[in-house]
Amino acid sequence: MQWTSLLLLAGLFCLSQAQYDDDPHWWFQYLRSQQSTYYDPYEPYPYEPYDPYPYGVDEGPAYSYGSPSLPDPRDCPQECDCPPNFPTAMYCDNRNLKYLPFVPSRMKYVYFQNNQISSIQEGVFDNATGLLWIALHGNQITSDKVGRKIFSKLKHLERLYLDHNNLTRMPGPLPRSLRELHLDHNQISRVPNNALEGLENLTALYLQHNEIQEVGSSMRGLRSLILLDLSYNHLRRVPDGLPSALEQLYMEHNNVYTVPDSYFRGAPKLLYVRLSHNSLTNNGLASNTFNSSSLLELDLSYNQLQKIPPVSTNLENLYLQGNRINGETLAKGGGDWLSISLERHDSEC
Ligand SMILES: *[C@@H]1O[C@H](CO)[C@@H](O)[C@H](O)[C@H]1NC(C)=O
Ligand SMILES: *[C@@H]1O[C@H](CO)[C@@H](O)[C@H](O)[C@H]1NC(C)=O
Ligand SMILES: *[C@@H]1O[C@H](CO)[C@@H](O)[C@H](O)[C@H]1NC(C)=O
Ligand SMILES: *[C@@H]1O[C@H](CO)[C@@H](O)[C@H](O)[C@H]1NC(C)=O
Repeated sequence: MQWTSLLLLAGLFCLSQAQYDDDPHWWFQYLRSQQSTYYDPYEPYPYEPYDPYPYGVDEGPAYSYGSPSLPDPRDCPQECDCPPNFPTAMYCDNRNLKYLPFVPSRMKYVYFQNNQISSIQEGVFDNATGLLWIALHGNQITSDKVGRKIFSKLKHLERLYLDHNNLTRMPGPLPRSLRELHLDHNQISRVPNNALEGLENLTALYLQHNEIQEVGSSMRGLRSLILLDLSYNHLRRVPDGLPSALEQLYMEHNNVYTVPDSYFRGAPKLLYVRLSHNSLTNNGLASNTFNSSSLLELDLSYNQLQKIPPVSTNLENLYLQGNRINGETLAKGGGDWLSISLERHDSEC
């Protein structure tokens, strides 16, 4: 089940304990995933790059390939496993490594996650110019110990997992071939305007759970970006310009207090916007800010709104609980669906 559905079900539970037992159907609207290319933010890590890959998601050393008596003629760092029948992958995950072993030139998929690696030394990927995926999540990599040119030479790299590390700055320069960039759960404090320059194929950018205060216009040029997760940061403003292909924008748990007029016109395919747990007031919103015809879901819960902002009639789910909207305003508000999501405010969930 997707994370979003879980979230809603949790909310539902509270709701049904409150006063809407008699209307159990409204949330079925929520089942709309077929309408879009929905990215699951908690998609499993890439243990299985291609279908024919014979191993499951087990991380232990219990691979069933070969046997100890079968010599592997190809080079493989002794700390790692290089399955003979999947010659372009190298497994070095979950083994207390403190450094990165040199990557042989034939590798396309390398897995170093969940170790104690704190640096990415210059040269370590120099021979492996065909790398497609690098998994380095769950280590202790600090920005000062990332070689300056480490990634830019990897002209084919599509996925880079650097989440759950100790990064304080955006890594870079990054190869233009990237499709997914995972930088969540670090301590990055800003995204410079040029940090993501030229990443024309980037479709998903994960920056949640950092300490980001400022992203400037860094997102604007990402013309393939579909998912942007900036939740759990310290942003006071929305990004200066949205990517035009964007479908999912997650900014919950920040300090955003204003959204410019016509802001969402820059992203005509936008379907889901989450801005819950921010500092939005009606004064910070132009009258038509959220009246965007592509939006299906808008979460404005836990802000400081006193009035229901105008929304498009296409919107399927609007969350407004945890604001300061009073009953009178409510009565003048929209249809039943609107009041239902509002009432969660009172149910002490
Ligand atoms: C890197 O590639 C060069 C040229 O093919 C080769 O001579 C060298 O041994 C390789 N280095 C390692 C550590 O594999
Ligand atoms: C990384 O952060 C963790 C948690 O804050 C800390 O325990 C660890 O010492 C840090 N490692 C480095 C290399 O800074
Ligand atoms: C982006 O993707 C397209 C289509 O897959 C590919 O032809 C192109 O080379 C990629 N761009 C870069 C900079 O890698
Ligand atoms: C929302 O936008 C539509 C089309 O742009 C417009 O017709 C409608 O009046 C707007 N709704 C509100 C409440 O302003």
